[in-house]
Amino acid sequence: MTEWAGHPGADGFVGVFDSGVGGVSVLQHLVRELPGEEFHYFGDSAHAPYGAKTADEVQSLSHEIARRMLADGAKALVIACNTATSAAAPYLRAHYPQIPIIGVEPALKPAVLAGGSGKVLVMATEVTLALDKFHRLEEQWAQDAQVVTVACGGLVECVERGDLDDPALHEVLERLVGRYRGDVDRVVLGCTHYPFARKQIADVLGDVRFFDGGEGTARQLRRMLESHGLLREGYHGSVSFASSIDTPEEAALYQRFFNLPC
Ligand code: DGL
Repeated sequence: MTEWAGHPGADGFVGVFDSGVGGVSVLQHLVRELPGEEFHYFGDSAHAPYGAKTADEVQSLSHEIARRMLADGAKALVIACNTATSAAAPYLRAHYPQIPIIGVEPALKPAVLAGGSGKVLVMATEVTLALDKFHRLEEQWAQDAQVVTVACGGLVECVERGDLDDPALHEVLERLVGRYRGDVDRVVLGCTHYPFARKQIADVLGDVRFFDGGEGTARQLRRMLESHGLLREGYHGSVSFASSIDTPEEAALYQRFFNLPC
């Protein structure tokens, strides 16, 4: 087992990971915000969905990915997954205190602050909604708006299959959130896979505003790299992809999603 050889400094890469292709929606924001950085993306598609596992399983899968990325020379990690952030971020930060570790969280605060006449719908995985991190967020913000939450089992699998025009995706969305049509005007995309299905969600819910954590995560990564003296500026950055399903089809899927508007 290769172990961490010490901090690589500003020349190291930024490791970004998720249970699959979803975190690519966050990666798009990271690259836009920090074009001089080298990003290595890992999607654990072989183990997706994380949202149907126990928090302990998600923590141990996340730790294994983090350990490998740090052994390979990561200077910072972005957990581009709400589920893994809730289940593993405090543990990973305690384990690797020298490394900036940035997570994502459902963008409930901006959705509530945006104001509106309808309810705020939070779509996320079962694990994300069940853990303390979300409960704290809800306690803080849910007095200022009517918030409804839906654990969206089955949605990640549809996105992982890569066919966003598949009628099965529409059926899953209709079953999960169809009853809120006309009742909600803001939707928090609390799983990084969901921004890829934004259009399909709008087809079911009608005229709604979407909120996701991608942009805020990118700004937070910049702040953390700056404060740790790790920012790489004046370089031409790069992006590489790897998946635990190591096939050309999977590599092509990641590349295609990187170029999709989301
Ligand atoms: N993309 C992930 C998230 O943000 C995880 C989805 C899953 O694997 O269930 O929660």
